Amino acid sequence: MHDIIRQLEEKRRRARLGGGEDRIETQHKKGKLTARERLELLLDPESFEEWDMFVEHRCTDFGMEKQTIPGDGVVTGYGTINGRTVFVYSQDFTVFGGSLSEPHAEKICKIMDQAMKVGAPVIGLNDSGGARIQEGVASLAGYAEVFQRNVMASGVVPQVSVVMGPCAGGAVYSPAMTDFIFMVRDTSYMFVTGPEVVKTVTHEDVTHEELGGAGPHTTKSGVADRAFDNDAEALLSLRRFMDFLPANNREKPPVRPTPDAPDRTEPSLDTLVPDNPNTPYDIKELIGKVVDEGDFFELQPDYAANMVIGFGRLEGSTIGVVANQPMVLAGCLDIACSIKAARFVRFCDCFNIPIVTFVDVPGFLPGTAQEHGGIIKHGAKLLYAFAEATVPKVTVITRKAYGGAYDVMSSKHLRGDVNFAWPSAEIAVMGPKGAVEIIFRSESGDADKIAARTEEYRKTFANPFIAGHRGYIDDVIMPHNTRARLCRSLRMLRNKKLDNPWKKHGNIPL
Ligand code: HXC
Repeated sequence: MHDIIRQLEEKRRRARLGGGEDRIETQHKKGKLTARERLELLLDPESFEEWDMFVEHRCTDFGMEKQTIPGDGVVTGYGTINGRTVFVYSQDFTVFGGSLSEPHAEKICKIMDQAMKVGAPVIGLNDSGGARIQEGVASLAGYAEVFQRNVMASGVVPQVSVVMGPCAGGAVYSPAMTDFIFMVRDTSYMFVTGPEVVKTVTHEDVTHEELGGAGPHTTKSGVADRAFDNDAEALLSLRRFMDFLPANNREKPPVRPTPDAPDRTEPSLDTLVPDNPNTPYDIKELIGKVVDEGDFFELQPDYAANMVIGFGRLEGSTIGVVANQPMVLAGCLDIACSIKAARFVRFCDCFNIPIVTFVDVPGFLPGTAQEHGGIIKHGAKLLYAFAEATVPKVTVITRKAYGGAYDVMSSKHLRGDVNFAWPSAEIAVMGPKGAVEIIFRSESGDADKIAARTEEYRKTFANPFIAGHRGYIDDVIMPHNTRARLCRSLRMLRNKKLDNPWKKHGNIPL
């Protein structure tokens, strides 16, 4: 018995040491924490229950039988974040570069299966050189087992990935199938094939950072949702982020008591929209002034910034915010922002999070780049996502709602529950200039006539009343009352029930 306890302690000590002091030091020198240090920061103190600490690989090729480390490069288990259960895995780069062996994959699968049974989120802290090369197809099989579970868990429990080191090959595809990806600047990379392979195939000279760092993935590819300066900042932000999410698709989002009164008025909003319809303003000012305590967790802030998405709360309950940003591309819908917002709307719909949409959109972005890039298909994603969503949907048109973009942005016709307009709203097929150029083309030589026609058009359409007459908007509200009206609407919608017709699944234009 004593012997077993001594062996147990020795195995625990070896497991905790991972790949050894030297490799831990190398990890620290790179500015990275170890797998266990990361879990300590992420989870509530003393809450972590580790599983499978004694699992070892079974590979006997390439002398691997002489190199076994208990835990085999991944720390798995469950714990709590602000008292709520989450399942976690944290890859240990000090053990075979965090590479995924068959047992490493089995450990991840085990916590994913359990998370599905109890309905709790799965968080992966990724720091891995990909498939364990010595294991060959066994490690590829391991990845596929994880991928399959990612897909089955999609829409059932939230899945979040933090990429905290190099993630190559298979190591990027599991994060890609989770709901959100956070990265760490300068120490994390994601690519399907690394710089050496790129050089061989395309002759491009590219660094790890240029190819797959947090920079390109938060500004160009849109793969990552946020980037943070270091491990600690990423993990503490993730704790804050998880507080917005329900544990599973059967639960409502958590309610956090707030001292912020639901009927708080915000007089400064009455002058937010400039008199000149072509002058931009910052939609984030509106969001910050409306949500509880100004607490807004924005996602993808530096990618497709003509659309703002993120989580906030009203009366303590999580809402998903989708908003056109007049500061960027005048708030036009383009390919990138449509995809960005569509995926977010679908996440909210999966997890019972009401959607609040702020609209100031002059239309779809014109041009060959957009048309040839498939704006028809990609813009349709957002239309589809709003149309299929059955969660409470409240929309506020602050200024322009032109053309197809009016329809797309959670309009009444897409089952918007409550659709408000500010007095500054302009709801029309297009802006005055474009409209007059088309319908009064014969008068195009006469500047005075065109000016008079433009003014006539502006008077007719640059207001919310035509939509109001038809009931397409439910009320015209004063900007300073926006928070109060949203809170009241969402309170009314708390027990909303709406089902889509039975189907295996829809066929969103992918
Ligand atoms: C086994 C690996 C490994 C791997 C790294 N190591 N990757 N061992 N399998 N995939 C080991 C190294 O041998 C080394 O061991 C230790 O981890 C640290 O690696 P270094 O190279 O010294 O670290 P660094 O310089 O920081 O470079 C990290 C790296 C690089 C960029 C991740 O190691 C690398 O490029 N690895 C290979 C990436 C790769 O091609 N993976 C396979 C992808 S294919 P020692 O003992 O020296 O410390 C794939 C298929 C799945 O994943 C597809 C599913 C769709």
